[in-house]
Amino acid sequence: MTLTLDQLLHALKGAGEETRLRILALFKSGELTVTEIVSVLRQSQPRISRHLRLLCEAGLLERHREGTWIFYRLSEGKEQSKLVKSILDFMPYDDQILQHDQERLSEVKRERDRKAAEYFNDNAANWDQIRSLYVPEQQVEEYLLKVTKDMQIEEMLDVGTGTGRMLELFSQNATSGVGIDLSREMLAIARSHLEQKSINHMQVRQGDMYDLALPDQAMDLVIFHQVLHFADDPLAAIKETARILRPNGRVVIVDFLPHKIEKLREEYAHRRLGFSKSEVQDWCSLTGLNLKSTEIMKGSELDIAIWVATKK
Ligand SMILES: C[S@@+](CC[C@H](N)C(=O)[O-])C[C@H]1O[C@@H](n2cnc3c(N)ncnc32)[C@H](O)[C@@H]1O
Repeated sequence: MTLTLDQLLHALKGAGEETRLRILALFKSGELTVTEIVSVLRQSQPRISRHLRLLCEAGLLERHREGTWIFYRLSEGKEQSKLVKSILDFMPYDDQILQHDQERLSEVKRERDRKAAEYFNDNAANWDQIRSLYVPEQQVEEYLLKVTKDMQIEEMLDVGTGTGRMLELFSQNATSGVGIDLSREMLAIARSHLEQKSINHMQVRQGDMYDLALPDQAMDLVIFHQVLHFADDPLAAIKETARILRPNGRVVIVDFLPHKIEKLREEYAHRRLGFSKSEVQDWCSLTGLNLKSTEIMKGSELDIAIWVATKK
């Protein structure tokens, strides 16, 4: 399929203005909120919102609202998506204005990451209590063992391992495993938990979910347990995961279903207020995974889902 003449004109007009090109250049990686774009471009919120609306109408960006935050990202799966990717390929990132915008964007992201890291570092010692606040933990853990019972797990990866609970849980079932996390404080606790329990075949190390520093097709099982709602770009994390999964390998994602508890953003550093099944389905379709099942569990205040997908 190609675009109609009208759609092509609309898309090119959408991109054909300096501020809108600058906005598109910010979307090289990940999703951004209006507030973040405003702090990078230092123009008024109504102006930026108008440009964003035009870019969405032109089919170049997509938006979704979650509570009081609106997220924007490059459109996916449309003809216009190919056009916007080509525009980004031609973007002169060494241009002074664009370079300055990228620097501001890095500052904005660094500040955001600093706040989240501070939260995890400050709360590492209490994490085991915090993690059980909203989630029927035992039920989740039993289910995780059940949906992986048929697997022979030579190597597993726990992304955002925190205090290492998932490594402990799978220690009987996996020949070896590694947990990665950005927070050194969390990793220190995970290490001492594993040591106390003499779990020597599971290791932890500092690592980033967007760049796992592992070879292609290295893992049988990857777990994301209550991690993706902290991510700027969950799709990029799933893409990186699909790369390191062996064929027929499995990824299991445990996370909240869409909710409206905004205070989790301020008090618990959450970026996303849960995910819908269709969003997870989109990540899978875009990264070569097959979504096999969605299990929903009711929590006291929040519902969670466990999604299982396999690599094609
Ligand atoms: C809510 S905790 C969950 C920990 C663990 N999975 C559990 O369920 O107990 C989220 C963890 O993700 C880590 N994290 C956040 N962003 C990350 C990233 N880009 N790469 C790796 N870990 C990250 C945090 O440091 C934190 O330890």
